[in-house]
Amino acid sequence: MYGLVNQAIRDMVVERFGVETWGDICALTGADELFLTMGQYPDELTFSLIESLCKLQGCESDVVLQNFGEYWIDYVAKNYQELFAMAGGDFVTFVKNLNSLHTRVAQMMPELQAPGFSISDAQEGRFVLHYYSQRDGMQPMIIGLFRGLGRRFATAVSLTYLEGKTEGLDHDCFQVEYSRHEDD
Ligand code: HEM
Repeated sequence: MYGLVNQAIRDMVVERFGVETWGDICALTGADELFLTMGQYPDELTFSLIESLCKLQGCESDVVLQNFGEYWIDYVAKNYQELFAMAGGDFVTFVKNLNSLHTRVAQMMPELQAPGFSISDAQEGRFVLHYYSQRDGMQPMIIGLFRGLGRRFATAVSLTYLEGKTEGLDHDCFQVEYSRHEDD
């Protein structure tokens, strides 16, 4: 995984819990204090950063992954403003452009193992989201990512896990319900 992801985890921990907590996580995992954004690191390292944070906070890894997903939206919106803006100005357009967004990211990060997304059963205010990943265990992050997108686009968004890899499918499915805030 690109170091950008580990660096974002580090920044979230330092912002929310302080630099000492980050020091504790480095001690537990043997991770470096900082990461090269464009460097490649084993996926296991990223998962062990998450696990250590759970241990220190006494919470489930699902919760940490959800919170990180939400944080990731603001992180990339700030650090990759132009790419982010190109993907769309409202929730549904943006979701439909997630694959082309990662295709553009892959032009600067050629080793990217990007996620894939598709939509089915679209009706007014709802659709089924299909999330494809070469990795296992990232699906709780999707809930936080979509919470973050909802916040960004003034839209109330709720996700319910339907079925997925846990049930033997090759990808995860979520029911998405959304409604734009009236006064925005
Ligand atoms: C400019 C904005 C973005 C950039 C620069 C970016 C970049 C990245 C990078 C570097 C990774 C790590 C993958 C690897 O190293 O192999 C990643 C993974 C991922 N990204 Fe993005 N991303 C962006 C926006 C988004 C958005 C808006 C979403 C969803 C709402 C998203 C969903 C994911 C997910 C779920 C993964 C985990 C990979 C997996 O499933 O295997 N990203 N992205």
